[in-house]
Amino acid sequence: MSIEKVGVVGCGLMGSGIAQVAAQAGYPVVVREVSAQLVEKGLKSIEKNLARLVEKGNLSSADRDEIRGRLRGTTNVEDLKECDLIMEAIIEQLPAKRELWSSLDTICPKSAIFASNTSSLSITEMATFTQRPDRFVGLHFFNPVPVMKLVEVIRTIGTDPKVYDEVLTFAGKLGKTAVRTTDRTGFIVNRLLVPYILDAVRVLEEGVASIEDIDNSMKLGCGHPMGPLTLLDFVGLDTTYYIANIMFDEFKEKRFAPPPLLKRMVLAGWHGRKTGRGFYDYADPAKPRPMHLS
Ligand code: 3HC
Repeated sequence: MSIEKVGVVGCGLMGSGIAQVAAQAGYPVVVREVSAQLVEKGLKSIEKNLARLVEKGNLSSADRDEIRGRLRGTTNVEDLKECDLIMEAIIEQLPAKRELWSSLDTICPKSAIFASNTSSLSITEMATFTQRPDRFVGLHFFNPVPVMKLVEVIRTIGTDPKVYDEVLTFAGKLGKTAVRTTDRTGFIVNRLLVPYILDAVRVLEEGVASIEDIDNSMKLGCGHPMGPLTLLDFVGLDTTYYIANIMFDEFKEKRFAPPPLLKRMVLAGWHGRKTGRGFYDYADPAKPRPMHLS
């Protein structure tokens, strides 16, 4: 059975991006959030992104209307029952995921495939919340989803190879480059990225260089689009701290341990761009100013 209609659970930053790319690729999409306000907020952000593409001449108004017409928002999980593939991008907390997956398992037909966008929780563990571990995979997208070309496709020891191939084909139809990986915390990208950005915080903590000089070094010396501390502000200090702790717990290696400065900033509520303060102050978002952290 091929994937014809998709469901997305969670319409925040990642979920709305996933819903957008699926609708742009021609799939009818049902997107579910917990409240009508959150459904509206998520759909508005997609409309804003599509409007930007029209303004730039990258999308016609007629295509925009068709894409928007393929998206249906809902607060009712029952509305996902006709979807062939359900992609979950809700809060990174296992109890919330457990509740969602076990209710979807009873609502959806046995043929439906389940995929989590988790960046650090175990896909294998999530699959045990259902009666379909053979039809359970990870589909890990990157922020901003409409721009970043990669998706990690994660199989567990229980994933049916035919299901895995089907999901790889689907990822290609979204216009993404799919990489194959297995269920190890952090998969490929975060396994490499998280120690790197944590090291940037250590370099700052040790007084080796300033915030701007660390960022400029990696931008101008290595051609990265963002320096590591700007990237930390972009991803969210709280999110990175959370992922790092899970990775440390899994591998027990020092390189995954969050540095004390990161922990203090998270405790202080300086979570990066989304809270207006992190390694930079975003009072003027167009001109972030480095913070004084000592
Ligand atoms: N949604 C849609 N489109 C967006 C966007 C968004 N949120 N943000 C930027 N864009 C588009 C712009 O419209 C522009 O499109 P155009 O080329 O057609 O004009 C293009 O992206 C470039 O944007 P800008 O010119 O405004 O800015 P930049 O050139 O600085 O690019 C960036 C912005 C794409 C975010 C770039 O800085 C970048 O690639 N940064 C690194 C992002 C990254 O590493 N992401 C991965 C994070 S890790 C992760 O997600 C995993 C998780 O588990 C932690």
